[in-house]
Amino acid sequence: MISSLTLEQASPSRYRADVLVIGVYADGTLSAAGRAIDDASKGRLAALVKRGDLEGKPGSTLMLYDLPGVPTPRVLLVSLGEKAKFGDKAYRDAIKGAARALSTTKGSTAAIALSGMDVPERSLAWKVQTAAQLLADGTYTFAAPGVRSKTNGNGAGAREIALLVDEEATPELKNAVVRGQAIAEGMAFAKDLGNLPGNVCNPAYLANAARTLGKEFQLGVEILEREDMAKLGMGSALSVGRASEQPCKFIVMRYNGAGETAKPIVLVGKGVTFDTGGVSLKPGDDLDMMKYDMCGAAAVFGALKTAARLSLPLNLVGIVGAVENMPGGNASRPGDVVTSMSGQTIEILNTDAEGRLVLCDALTYAERLDPECVIDIATLTGACVIALGSQASGLFSSDDALADELLESGTRTGDRAWRMPLWEEYQDQLKSNFADMSNLGGRPAGSVTAACFLSRFTGAYRWAHLDIAGTASVGGDAKGATGRPVPLLSEFLLRRSDRTAART
Ligand code: BES
Ligand code: MN
Ligand code: ZN
Repeated sequence: MISSLTLEQASPSRYRADVLVIGVYADGTLSAAGRAIDDASKGRLAALVKRGDLEGKPGSTLMLYDLPGVPTPRVLLVSLGEKAKFGDKAYRDAIKGAARALSTTKGSTAAIALSGMDVPERSLAWKVQTAAQLLADGTYTFAAPGVRSKTNGNGAGAREIALLVDEEATPELKNAVVRGQAIAEGMAFAKDLGNLPGNVCNPAYLANAARTLGKEFQLGVEILEREDMAKLGMGSALSVGRASEQPCKFIVMRYNGAGETAKPIVLVGKGVTFDTGGVSLKPGDDLDMMKYDMCGAAAVFGALKTAARLSLPLNLVGIVGAVENMPGGNASRPGDVVTSMSGQTIEILNTDAEGRLVLCDALTYAERLDPECVIDIATLTGACVIALGSQASGLFSSDDALADELLESGTRTGDRAWRMPLWEEYQDQLKSNFADMSNLGGRPAGSVTAACFLSRFTGAYRWAHLDIAGTASVGGDAKGATGRPVPLLSEFLLRRSDRTAART
């Protein structure tokens, strides 16, 4: 656990810490900080590096002890990879490698020399924010009362970390540390919600999480119950949860950071707390992963927490449609026709295409907020996993400027998205013989037709959709929620805030 993360203008060869972290390029070239340490140790560092024990892959580490002439007892070398290829990815890998090594060291204070790790086209503020986020995120462990008690209690790992720079530690740079940490805090919240099992994190649990978050940050929180949803005409969203013992909850959270007149940015999250597929039952393999079907909702919670923690000067509304998709005697049947809040009717050809049925009513509800823009976030389609894997979220938008902002926010944070088409031509795949549309577009371009379905409910405002089915969680040995796309969303909100601040 890190208890403090600070920024210091200091020379690495003189700074006192239990561990000093220094970057080294693959050919043995030292970073500026490394050269200073090499001078202090009269060439010992360069000689040790020449032996080649440090691997060249960015993020590889090697701990050195008691270098002569150097006040810190441990120098952690971290590989930066090839100098010619040094960029965003190698920098991130290097910081992640350092974070890993620092989480097991016996030293309790550490300093990371950022000078000399020059990332092309990136400012020092970017380097600082990125490092702060990755270091704080690197210490995440899942712990929840009644699910698992704290596991990382053995006291190992650096607690106090200083980022060393050779420029003046301006307020902007210090703020970059705070921003990075706030993003990691939002990610941790999203990961916790995602990692909780479906028998704990049900719709009522998400509603309570909203109330708790609301109390901590003075958010306006409104929970619409099943009856309220019915009154609003949310026949589509309600149809998904109808066979579950856990009643649906429709959650609205308002963060007001910019006075009454500014239009809100609205984030809409898919909160299917477990997706069995319903009567169109999913096959059993890896079905436990469907507890992650509320990760869109988790990202909304996480981004709201980051924004509120930073008191961003904007208005933000988070909407979550929380439901459990179960089979049962009262479940929707394939072929059922439901009426959405928009008045459009939907033939449910597959009860496993439930996310869009929940989102469409949330998107219609968003109209009444007179939004500046609406971004929905959803683990929507397996097809998106096939298209983009776990590297990029699928981005769909009818608004080029909004899409560009989101893409840029993803690139800056390494939480990338990739734009997919929303062309009119795909809409034909949603034809129904019995209702205004079907909820199924067939196998070809499955993530596109899902987005096309949503687009039919978003005519009233600027809108973008992020399909995070491949990015929100990982399987295998490292099974868990990733906290994505909280970094992308947070960066988007930060950039919007900076834009507002520049105008006033
Ligand atoms: N929650 C799933 C999508 C999903 C799949 C997320 C894999 C993460 C990993 C969604 O509700 C779903 O089941 N989608 C169907 C849609 C199909 C029936 C049109 C799918 O992708 O197979
Ligand atoms: Mn499904
Ligand atoms: Zn689903």
